Amino acid sequence: MTDEALHRAHELAAAWLEELRERPVRAAGDPAGLRGPLPERGEEPAAVLDALAAAAEPGLVASAGPRYFGFVTGGALPAALGADWLTSAWDQNAGLHAMSPAAATAESTVLAWCKELLGLPQTAGGGIVTGAQMANVTALAAARHAVLARAGWDVEARGLAGAPALRVIVSDESHATVFNALRLLGLGRDTPVRIPTDEQGRMRADALVAELAGATLPTIVCAQAGNVNTGAFDPLEQIVAACRAHGAWCHIDGAFGLWAAAAPTRAQLAAGASGADSWAVDAHKWLNVPYDSALAFVADRAPLNAAMALTAAYLTTAGERERNGADWSPEASRRARAFPLYAALRQLGRSGVAELVERTCTLAAHIADRLAAEPGVTVLNDVVLNQALVRFEDDDAATDAVIARVQEEGTCWLGGTRWHGVAAMRISVSGWQTTEADADRSADAIAAAWRAVATG
Ligand SMILES: Cc1ncc(COP(=O)(O)O)c(C=O)c1O
Repeated sequence: MTDEALHRAHELAAAWLEELRERPVRAAGDPAGLRGPLPERGEEPAAVLDALAAAAEPGLVASAGPRYFGFVTGGALPAALGADWLTSAWDQNAGLHAMSPAAATAESTVLAWCKELLGLPQTAGGGIVTGAQMANVTALAAARHAVLARAGWDVEARGLAGAPALRVIVSDESHATVFNALRLLGLGRDTPVRIPTDEQGRMRADALVAELAGATLPTIVCAQAGNVNTGAFDPLEQIVAACRAHGAWCHIDGAFGLWAAAAPTRAQLAAGASGADSWAVDAHKWLNVPYDSALAFVADRAPLNAAMALTAAYLTTAGERERNGADWSPEASRRARAFPLYAALRQLGRSGVAELVERTCTLAAHIADRLAAEPGVTVLNDVVLNQALVRFEDDDAATDAVIARVQEEGTCWLGGTRWHGVAAMRISVSGWQTTEADADRSADAIAAAWRAVATG
């Protein structure tokens, strides 16, 4: 029975991957077949898969394909996708070494490899989580532990009621998930001090220094490597130095941007990042590991372990060379996400990661240049990474209309945003399959949509 189901899954997956490149990128419609009552009787596994695939089909988006430029979205590298299947077949619980020495060892290995690629200290502790949202939670939990411990307070044991006040500093451009992380950690979504940013969305280091100068409270600073709109990096060298000088914890949200450190032509953008105290980075975005996959790193392993460690009489403790994943991330039982990560990193190698980052940055600039050559089109940002912001006729309605038209036409998909108060099209090139031909085809489709909107 299992064999038949897996063969059917393979056929269905192969058919999907076969047409991924050419099907309209947007969803075709409403996956109405997925609604319905709970069946009374069970069904044959292979028939269930057929029914699921048929019902899901209209609601599937070709977001793993080569011309999806929405949000910041990677595809699934073949080795990572295959390893993801094996992860389900093996069905390992990565929470404890005793439950899967293979998952635990793969975790240690991929954490070490990623630290090397990202230029982070090899001594840093790390955890594998679902996304940069949870990586921010994980790293900031370690930050919360450390700054309150320095103030003589054990936040894990005593909670926040009655704790010494602490101060969180973010920027006007910090990602929404940083605020969610602060909210989940009891630090408050609306309480952080917001440092103003420059025209590219970079935190102004001078304003941070001025803010820190008056600091007496335990302080956590949240910096960013890769603005979700412009791709710009906060001035990390200056921010890290300011944090050092004032005893503040420096966290870097590098959901996609931190991978720039792995690419020689872009690494300069991330200069200084290695001196921070903690980092959040996704693998399901630019590294093209299938959802879900991200990493949290903390330079000093102790606060991470203090914030996350899981203890109970029946649980086994890890030996000296062993790793209990549950001691380094918020979840206990969980999927062995290290296997697809391991496979992605082996498929690419160090040079492949660099090539992926460099190619996608080049293609983002290529699309931006092609569009900038069209009358009435303005590129709003310096395209330093894989993100471009485009505006049409300096008009919100025209820009929104072009975005809607491109989405409907289906050659490619990209979303909208607001940048400095005006509407903009957001182009993010993050997929491993995207070629120059895809970039040109997409630029043609966007230009055609623009001409159609302009001529009414
Ligand atoms: C800078 C930044 N931080 C955090 C996130 C959240 O990542 P995820 O959706 O993987 O949790 C994103 C997503 O785009 C991001 O760009």
